[in-house]
Amino acid sequence: MPMSLRWSLLSLLLMLSACYYDNEQELYPCDYDPSQCEGLIDPCDTENVGYASFVQPLLAQHCIVCHQGAAASANIRLDSYAAVKTYVDNGRLFGAMNHEPGYEAMPQGGNKLPDCDLAKLKAWIDAGAVDN
Ligand code: HEC
Repeated sequence: MPMSLRWSLLSLLLMLSACYYDNEQELYPCDYDPSQCEGLIDPCDTENVGYASFVQPLLAQHCIVCHQGAAASANIRLDSYAAVKTYVDNGRLFGAMNHEPGYEAMPQGGNKLPDCDLAKLKAWIDAGAVDN
């Protein structure tokens, strides 16, 4: 390779690495220290939570494996809006997911879902749990 090309490649590489800034803690201080979040957009957006866009995918990811079809655990199916709505209305869906006393903690054998997911689910429930 000609010397001049080699130098331009090398300087390009140096420029790229100089621009690359990988200290996440300095780039996103709010993620690490909530006192830094003031004035920033709330990272957990609970506005306009949809069944199709949020709730159904959340249940599909964490719950459906045990709660679908004829062999559903505890005979609780969460594979359609109508079925999910039943367990929203009797309080068992959120009680179980929020690990409230008197309910079996879900997902069974797994960790409680992140606070933001639960906050969004709660917002959807509080807004009437519509099939949106
Ligand atoms: C590994 C399988 C498994 C997964 C994953 C799972 N469940 Fe369950 N679920 C069960 C079993 C088994 C029961 C019956 C528990 C019992 O009675 O001991 C149950 C019970 C329940 C109940 C009734 C709880 C009560 O106390 O009334 C609800 C509601 C429920 N699950 C919802 C969910 C939701 C929502 C998720 C996802 C966040 C989920 N489950 C994930 C296996 C599972």
